[in-house]
Amino acid sequence: MAMDTTQDLLKHDLGDLLYAEKHILKALKKMIRQTKDAEMKERLQEHHGETEHHIENLEKAFEAMGLKPKAQKCAAILGIIEEKKEFEEEENPTPMVLESFNLGAGLRVENYEIAAYKSALALAKSLAQREVADLLKANLDQEVAMARFIEGSSARVLRDAQAAIREEDSKSTSTGNGRKSAGAKKTGKSTKKSASKASSK
Ligand SMILES: [Fe+2]
Ligand SMILES: [Fe+2]
Repeated sequence: MAMDTTQDLLKHDLGDLLYAEKHILKALKKMIRQTKDAEMKERLQEHHGETEHHIENLEKAFEAMGLKPKAQKCAAILGIIEEKKEFEEEENPTPMVLESFNLGAGLRVENYEIAAYKSALALAKSLAQREVADLLKANLDQEVAMARFIEGSSARVLRDAQAAIREEDSKSTSTGNGRKSAGAKKTGKSTKKSASKASSK
């Protein structure tokens, strides 16, 4: 049967968001385990709690419309999660490279959520569903804050990751041929990369 009301479209969007948030909750747990940066880890843990609250708000939004909460498969969030999984399997990144990659993965998730909440919010407002709109806005505000945090912290986290990678390189170089020059570090890194590439083939 053709969907013929924007009321049904809002219901669909709420279900899509509910599905996405449930998958994000699991993905966040994994990301927290993969994060060494103390400040980022703490913020991710906080956002995990916020995400549990997002799920509750979405369930309340369904109820405010007199509906039973029902998740609807969200292919977009599955795609972002799959992209991260493929990166881990195909590139076999070191923990520091993975932590750097996760900044981008996290930002992709937050921006997807922001777009989805903004469009659902516009729909709720157009339908004068005030309670639904308030619940969606509460979630949206926390997604925006999280995206800003990731953007604001990226330079520092990347700098620290690069310093840790350099330190690792100099350690392996000094235990290898005893040379610690910049050239030796570079050689050590490219050797390590080609070795890991070879082993993943
Ligand atoms: Fe969320
Ligand atoms: Fe989020």
